[in-house]
Amino acid sequence: MQKYEEKKFSLPNLKGLSDKQTSEHLKLYSGYVKNTNGLLEKIEAAQKLSAPDSYQVAELRRRLGFEFNGMRLHEYYFESLGGDGMANINSNLYTAIQTQYGSFDLWLNEFKAAGVMRGIGWVILYYDQSSKMFHNTWITDHEVGHLAGLPIILAMDVWEHAYLLDYLPSQRKDYIEAFFNNLNWQTIETRLSQ
Ligand SMILES: [Fe+2]
Repeated sequence: MQKYEEKKFSLPNLKGLSDKQTSEHLKLYSGYVKNTNGLLEKIEAAQKLSAPDSYQVAELRRRLGFEFNGMRLHEYYFESLGGDGMANINSNLYTAIQTQYGSFDLWLNEFKAAGVMRGIGWVILYYDQSSKMFHNTWITDHEVGHLAGLPIILAMDVWEHAYLLDYLPSQRKDYIEAFFNNLNWQTIETRLSQ
């Protein structure tokens, strides 16, 4: 069976996010890759039994969204870091956001506000090609609330593990500022053009 490989990310010294925080977070990412591979193997093995236990197979399948999305969302997250946080005002992404929200800052404020919602999860900016519309979306855990088929433009982790070594739970806003200060907008803009 094919396996998912752990990705390597280029993460120079991040502003407001310590190396300790980043390396611990990357260990969690690594765990999601391992667990995704492990789960796929278990599902395959459980199905091959002469008398498969349908409850066991069903329970394993239910776990896949959590582990797989935990892996994939962290890849979107870490790939988007390592930049200077400056969005290019001449890019297609900037212009399209401006057109929909009235200004880039109005979108930004809405996205950041979603990031301080109670609970653990992610805030994701999706783009719906068919309606030419962006959506700022709250995802519970890693798997609840995704918009089917829409590409992810930006994924912000707001699980406490993403910031707890640098910020208290009451300082989630400060972590969100640090996240934005380190964004590589070129990478993010490429996601829209793809
Ligand atoms: Fe995370």
